[in-house]
Amino acid sequence: MAVDTTALAAAGVAKAYGPLPVLGQIDLSVAAGEVVTVLGPSGCGKSTLLRVLAGLEPPDRGRVEVAGEAVRGPSPDRPMVVQGATLFPWLSLRANLEWGPRALGDRDAKTIVDELLDATGLSGSAHLLPRQLSGGMRQRAAIAQVLANRPPLLLLDEPFGALDAQTRLRMQEWLIGLLAERRTATLLVTHDVEEALLLGHRLLRLSHRPAEVVEELAVDLPAPRGRATLADPRFVELKAAVLSRVLDA
Ligand SMILES: Nc1ncnc2c1ncn2[C@@H]1O[C@H](COP(=O)(O)OP(=O)(O)OP(=O)(O)O)[C@@H](O)[C@H]1O
Ligand SMILES: [Mg+2]
Repeated sequence: MAVDTTALAAAGVAKAYGPLPVLGQIDLSVAAGEVVTVLGPSGCGKSTLLRVLAGLEPPDRGRVEVAGEAVRGPSPDRPMVVQGATLFPWLSLRANLEWGPRALGDRDAKTIVDELLDATGLSGSAHLLPRQLSGGMRQRAAIAQVLANRPPLLLLDEPFGALDAQTRLRMQEWLIGLLAERRTATLLVTHDVEEALLLGHRLLRLSHRPAEVVEELAVDLPAPRGRATLADPRFVELKAAVLSRVLDA
């Protein structure tokens, strides 16, 4: 892979909290336009890894690069979406979405936000306050909020964790379409095997803490992926194989 197509690269990243080693020695990369999913058991260090990649915390060892530049702190170019959205409670949904692009001086803020409201099925709710939205709507809004800034790289920490199964699948289909259309390089962390296989072009499986990459798998399934993929025999086979390795770990 040519260096200039690498959106994100981590080499030898390790981190401990005091005596607790959390990240072993992690090497990973995300190419431009690629969606990489990171699957790992609860408490293994997934959120820590994302915080280090986002520049929110320094690693003890190793190096993180975004588009060839060393990461030394947080940047709006690589926003992170976490569970439990970050919308301003006193602003309407539309004002929340327009806040980022306006702060960045983007004159097309209204157009971008109109497109995102449409894509997220939230056009009719643009005037509502965050507390007037359902959990699924808030989660969609949180993702739309970061996409409004047109980031070249997206870091997602279990973005659909708290949703019911049907809403989750709809949101996954929506995100798959959006990321494919925008070709946004994405690293998505999840503890759900199905989600990791449905969304990822490539899957990295982490060990128990301290997290290390113990498996890398190219997920070669036809696009567009969605509910029909779940019944695809190749998907069913992959899921069973990965699940059994997770259970044996
Ligand atoms: N700021 C911190 N200070 C001390 N220990 C921490 C800190 N953040 C995380 N940890 C510890 O590091 C380990 C990994 O936490 P982390 O949140 O990265 O795991 P995770 O894989 O995201 O878990 P989950 O699946 O529950 O979201 C845990 O044992 C946690 O207690
Ligand atoms: Mg976590």
